[in-house]
Amino acid sequence: MSAASLQGLRLLISAGPTYEDIDPVRFIGNRSSGKMGFAIAEAAARRGAQVRLVAGPVSLPTPAGVARTDVRSAAQMREAVLAGLPVDAYIGAAAVADYTPAQVAPGKIKKNEARFALELVRTPDILAEVAVHAARPRLVVGFAAETDDVERYARGKLEKKKLDLIAANRVGVPGSGFESDDNALTVYWAGGERALGPAPKTRLADELLDLIAQRLRTA
Ligand code: C5P
Repeated sequence: MSAASLQGLRLLISAGPTYEDIDPVRFIGNRSSGKMGFAIAEAAARRGAQVRLVAGPVSLPTPAGVARTDVRSAAQMREAVLAGLPVDAYIGAAAVADYTPAQVAPGKIKKNEARFALELVRTPDILAEVAVHAARPRLVVGFAAETDDVERYARGKLEKKKLDLIAANRVGVPGSGFESDDNALTVYWAGGERALGPAPKTRLADELLDLIAQRLRTA
């Protein structure tokens, strides 16, 4: 089967974790290699799309033909993503930290106390913001890592965040997940679903792009 072309379409993809600094040497972050988002960026560029990849701190090379912006925190990722609009599709594959320290200590925090409380505040939900933006892409795609009740939580996010598609990681499938080369996804949309994999992330990226291309071509 020849892959559906994305020639002439603009895709904006976020990938990797975000790191939220506590002090100059410590941070809060998510376990994410960025492999899924980078694989989607690479496959989309191969199909002729104009791709911008907003990457959190990862150690992955930039795929051929992809324009990359490196960021560290959720706030920086939000800024870079919003600056990347307008596009035809936004794919939020990043594992954005949900909370960030209320303050960043200017110097290294000393471990003098037996207990230590850190005040955290919610980060902006980049995906939800893109989905209601004045320059909303025609297609907004989210990811969800769920351990239980996958369909219920994924469909809840699809609706609440006003997405067109959500790809849920089927956590618990052997060889799938954050740092693995393989993954298993179920993609949900209003009125349908498709199970992809288990397969290497590079193949899943292509299968996900088939679903995306179909929708962009008919939208
Ligand atoms: O609600 P939850 O974090 O599970 O949603 C995951 C989806 O939302 C992913 O697509 C992720 O990139 C996006 N997200 C975001 N900004 C946040 C948290 C999650 O864009 N602050």
